[in-house]
Amino acid sequence: MCGIVGYVGPQSALDVVVAGLKRLEYRGYDSAGVAVLADGGLAAAKKAGKLVNLEKELVDRPLPAGTTGLGHTRWATHGAPTDVNAHPHLDNAGRVAVVHNGIIENFALLRAELAERGHVLASDTDTEVVAHLLAEEFAVTADLAEAMRLVCRRLDGAFTLVAVHADEPDVVVGARRNSPLVVGVGEGEAFLASDVAAFIAHTRSAIELGQDQVVELRRDGVTVTGFDGRPADVRSYHVDWDASAAEKGGYDYFMLKEIAEQPKAVADTLLGRIDASGSLRLDELRISAAELREVDKIVVVACGTAFHAGMIAKYAIEHWTRIPCEVELASEFRYRDPILDPRTLVIAISQSGETMDTLMALRHAREQGSKVLAICNTNGSTIPRESDAVLYTHAGPEVAVASTKAFLTQLVACYLVALYLGQVRGTKWGDEIHVVIRDLSQISRAVERVLGTMEPVRKLARSLADKNTVLFLGRHVGYPVALEGALKLKELAYMHAEGFAAGELKHGPIALIEEDLPVVVVAPSPRARSVLHDKIVSNIQEIRARGARTIVIAEEGDEAVAPYADHLIRIPATPTLLQPLVATVPLQVFACELATARGNEVDQPRNLAKSVTVE
Ligand code: M6R
Repeated sequence: MCGIVGYVGPQSALDVVVAGLKRLEYRGYDSAGVAVLADGGLAAAKKAGKLVNLEKELVDRPLPAGTTGLGHTRWATHGAPTDVNAHPHLDNAGRVAVVHNGIIENFALLRAELAERGHVLASDTDTEVVAHLLAEEFAVTADLAEAMRLVCRRLDGAFTLVAVHADEPDVVVGARRNSPLVVGVGEGEAFLASDVAAFIAHTRSAIELGQDQVVELRRDGVTVTGFDGRPADVRSYHVDWDASAAEKGGYDYFMLKEIAEQPKAVADTLLGRIDASGSLRLDELRISAAELREVDKIVVVACGTAFHAGMIAKYAIEHWTRIPCEVELASEFRYRDPILDPRTLVIAISQSGETMDTLMALRHAREQGSKVLAICNTNGSTIPRESDAVLYTHAGPEVAVASTKAFLTQLVACYLVALYLGQVRGTKWGDEIHVVIRDLSQISRAVERVLGTMEPVRKLARSLADKNTVLFLGRHVGYPVALEGALKLKELAYMHAEGFAAGELKHGPIALIEEDLPVVVVAPSPRARSVLHDKIVSNIQEIRARGARTIVIAEEGDEAVAPYADHLIRIPATPTLLQPLVATVPLQVFACELATARGNEVDQPRNLAKSVTVE
């Protein structure tokens, strides 16, 4: 939801900011804009549509050169994605420029007050009021950071703000409440961005900004205070990946690169978490073994793909720990008054660590006294910061809007947590844990093998480009995999796609089956409970008898499904609970190829943004 960049230093601010916006475009791509301080004034340009439109505008109407500036790429909330609603927003004198991520809930009231005082507001956005309020406060304080603190105290809602003022030409000021903002510290230069990817080409030295903090950037240093003006404690960290990790690296799309990176992402997420004796070492969890032994209920909260990871985790958690586990959509969680207490462990899963629904769910859980463990891919993001404990997935930056490698690593992290709980609570023997860990260690190679056999899947996807609907079926852990396959197809190929528990079919959805309708079936291993496998074979026959074109994902050696599969996609044999790690991969490839065949933008599907920082 909107990407923000700010810069002060010796380089061309425009070059740094536009390059940063390119790396943040995944966060929103409805419009983009920049502002630079130059020649004692402020110059801005903004354009509806993707960043490329702004780049053309900057060629046609170049801005003066300056070394302090800011930029924004937008996912619209208030006001249509037009030139005038694009950020930055300026005050009436054109001396202040501000960019914003989030929603200012009391903007209507502030706007009315400003209008009464003679301000003329040009856009439909909630953001523009901030430029005008900053101008008013700066007229009194002549200090942009102080003006920002005063304005922030009057704002309700979630916001990251970055501002510059023509009267303080070597200063950039940022503020943060609920939405992300990180500081990059270089040699004689400093950066502000929604994500470190925006400045990773310049520095790997970063500072996390906390809740309700204001940061003032100058070439020679960074000052952080609370909204109340008191100096704030901050955490500095070193970003453990470099600029090449955020490049396409020769692939046509980030999504293809990220699919290909999955074997490494899975292996990296296991790395260092298993000791020489084969036992789990999760010292990084800040919840003690004694506290984990007290847990009597687990609740997983997450959204989208991360929610599907949670659904799969439930099977492993309950099987290995015998602790009851519920899985909840984070956006629904706090509204239904869930029963939580200090013995409930809440697991919040999020790639970005910034999903507002998940953040609000975890805050609600902590208010009820529950401990929260975050499973997250983004170091220093809000969800791990506000949780009691965190287990980072080591997928590296995920840029494509459709989540792929993050999903597989979320699963690995969930398995590790479940096994660790089994270890500390003694519900699993050491040797049983060693067997699962050995199997998990082999998954990376299995994913590699799947990736090597995807050409028939791509060919099949291309042949279905003119279809309107694809259904997905699964049983047990194959059910969330089916949901994930359908979600990928919806968001990338813009096709009607639905996932069902195969057993539910006869309770209604089977009426959807018609001649040549593609139905993807995720078959459980025949070595699992044979009754489960037998049932899916029956389900495949039932839909085929009604004309469906069956596309079956089945383990190597599973011959029972072969006679009923119009298309058979083979995956390596794995233990039942780990099958999602390999069965999801063909579905990712399938959706990516169908999107390409339909001429869709794979990395930036319409209407979406990578991190959803509004509720
Ligand atoms: O950053 P998060 O993992 O919290 O994001 C959750 C969902 O928004 C995300 O998984 C979304 O569903 C993906 N675009 C799906 O591919």
